[in-house]
Amino acid sequence: MKVILADYSGFCFGVEKAINTTFGELEKKQKDQNIYSLGPLIHNNQVVKNLEEKGIEVIENIEDLSEGSIIIRSHGVSEKIYEELENKGLNIIDATCPFVRRIQNIVKNYYGKGYTIAIIGNSCHPEVIGINGWCNNQAIIINKEEDIHKVPSVDKLCIVVQTTMAVEQYNTISEKLENYAKEVVKFNTICLATKERQNAAKHLATKVDAMVVIGGQHSSNTQKLVSICKKIKPNDTFHVETIKDLPINTFKKYETIGVTAGASTPRWIISEAIETIRNI
Ligand code: F3S
Repeated sequence: MKVILADYSGFCFGVEKAINTTFGELEKKQKDQNIYSLGPLIHNNQVVKNLEEKGIEVIENIEDLSEGSIIIRSHGVSEKIYEELENKGLNIIDATCPFVRRIQNIVKNYYGKGYTIAIIGNSCHPEVIGINGWCNNQAIIINKEEDIHKVPSVDKLCIVVQTTMAVEQYNTISEKLENYAKEVVKFNTICLATKERQNAAKHLATKVDAMVVIGGQHSSNTQKLVSICKKIKPNDTFHVETIKDLPINTFKKYETIGVTAGASTPRWIISEAIETIRNI
């Protein structure tokens, strides 16, 4: 079986940075020191489990926390969370991705200038929740074209987009949103790693019989890669987390399989999958 890996796949710069920061902290960790991660560090169960075994405890809220170090993951958090962590005297290890930090800064700046903020993205995703926390949780959040009619008309509108959105979705929604304000500023804040992975997946999907997308079920950028591949290969795109999910028997009918992976997928999981498919 011929297997082709997309030109860009797997760990992105922001995830790599978060992982390296975390391992750096683990090396310095004192015996009685507690290190927490506010939410799973990345959307990959295998990596999170591995970090847990090494001593990183995942917590979902900071209410009961009174000591220790806390890692802010690449998705970032709201301004209020920083204040709460500082007030508690916790040691903050900030692994917010610089691309996410840039959006937080834009939102804070334009909100301060009286703009209504519109975030194109998933309102339940931690990155979007965090960004909204830099404009007093007042942002209008739009995930689908069908939701645009709910947007009220405003004087000044500042549009940003979740880093992992599909570029086409951003273009369509942001163009329509421009009709809802007299003055509009818009920032395409989809990160470079996302664009590269999406373009590479699209390109590869046209050249192979089937596509395998490796990544966590909750990973937003993985889900976008799946939908991009499904547009080209509706019945021959497979989303798997690890080699355990590979439908080996189905694969026997293909000659060439393309592989891509979300930004939270470690290299070893990709290599393992490629090796398994190659041996079919
Ligand atoms: Fe950052 Fe983009 Fe990765 S925002 S965490 S480089 S997907």
